[in-house]
Amino acid sequence: GVYPILLCGGSGTRLWPLSRKSYPKQFSKLTGGQSLFQASAQRLSGPTYEAPIIVTADDFRFIAAEQLAGVEQAAKAILIEPEARNTAPAVLSAAVWLAQTDPEAVMLVAPSDHVIADAEQFRAAVDAALPAAQGGAIVTFGITPTRPETGYGYLELAAGASTEATVPQDLAGFVEKPDAARAEEMLARGGFLWNAGIFLFSVRTILAAFETHAPEILAGVRAAVADAKSDLGFTRLASDAWAQLEDISIDYAVMERVENLMVMPYPGAWSDLGSWEAVWLESDPDTSGNVCSQNATAIDCRDTLLRSEAPSLELVGIGLEDMTVVAMPDAVLVARKSDGQRVKEAVAALKERQ
Ligand code: GDD
Ligand code: MG
Repeated sequence: GVYPILLCGGSGTRLWPLSRKSYPKQFSKLTGGQSLFQASAQRLSGPTYEAPIIVTADDFRFIAAEQLAGVEQAAKAILIEPEARNTAPAVLSAAVWLAQTDPEAVMLVAPSDHVIADAEQFRAAVDAALPAAQGGAIVTFGITPTRPETGYGYLELAAGASTEATVPQDLAGFVEKPDAARAEEMLARGGFLWNAGIFLFSVRTILAAFETHAPEILAGVRAAVADAKSDLGFTRLASDAWAQLEDISIDYAVMERVENLMVMPYPGAWSDLGSWEAVWLESDPDTSGNVCSQNATAIDCRDTLLRSEAPSLELVGIGLEDMTVVAMPDAVLVARKSDGQRVKEAVAALKERQ
């Protein structure tokens, strides 16, 4: 079976002030009755799948366990990172941990903050990609780009490959988070898909990729797993070894460099909800383009997100255009919607002031 590896250690700073260090967006009920994390766990269950491996931070271990129980699942393991080191060490820790008992295993790495409307369609795509992964490819899932988004990775299809194929396709390259000009250019040229950040590969394949492209990370993660301690059903990775690890995403550490990367085009609805602009897009704006939460009122506004997150806080916008306004009891964000990727600057600025 395929092991789902659910990453949920990120703090989602682009969705400040809703997403906080103490309660990041993957555990919040952003658009529906389930959290994004719960929906991700449920999506990756059924005949093809083993119990999931969760990789998360100490602060979130109980939220993760409780939310899994809420969708009637039990984790195969909950690995706890002593500190956030981004996705390269997080993914690798699951691979190294699995290699101890099941070195031939296939893993499906999934962020826990995505919205995928049709779970069945997604599972069918995983099944179709499985033979390539078993054959040694690193398969990523590719989404048809609809705007020059700078928050995603771009996959360039190889000559002769099709963005509409129903089996994994060869790639000519991978560009993680391009600047706006480059994103526009790729969109205009065509032949690119967005990297959904969902990866299917065997334990053996990913260990070999790190061995070649990031051997220090592999050595450090091996040490952190070898000295891991089990604690109330959680697996605590060793902090001495972990502290030495580079803070780097798997996209930069491995995906931009490997030659056995393939893409499985995924035509279904997908969104990262990585920014307020994405939340606005996914929330069905009304005929004036506005999205208002409870307690929020738009008067003569256009294409604006107004969100009050406190039951007794009334939020009113008048004459706004293309704005994001998010009010929490203790913090308010007011920004141009197009500055969505800059919201993390708020978190950085506040950190500096503390
Ligand atoms: N356990 C753990 N530890 N999880 C982490 C950590 C960490 O240190 N850092 C991030 N994550 C989790 C996040 O919670 C999220 O679920 C996932 O890993 C991806 O991290 P993001 O920070 O959301 O990445 P991104 O959105 O900027 O970029 C990635 O995803 C895009 C699509 O959503 C890249 O893979 C892009 O290429 C891709 O287009
Ligand atoms: Mg993301």
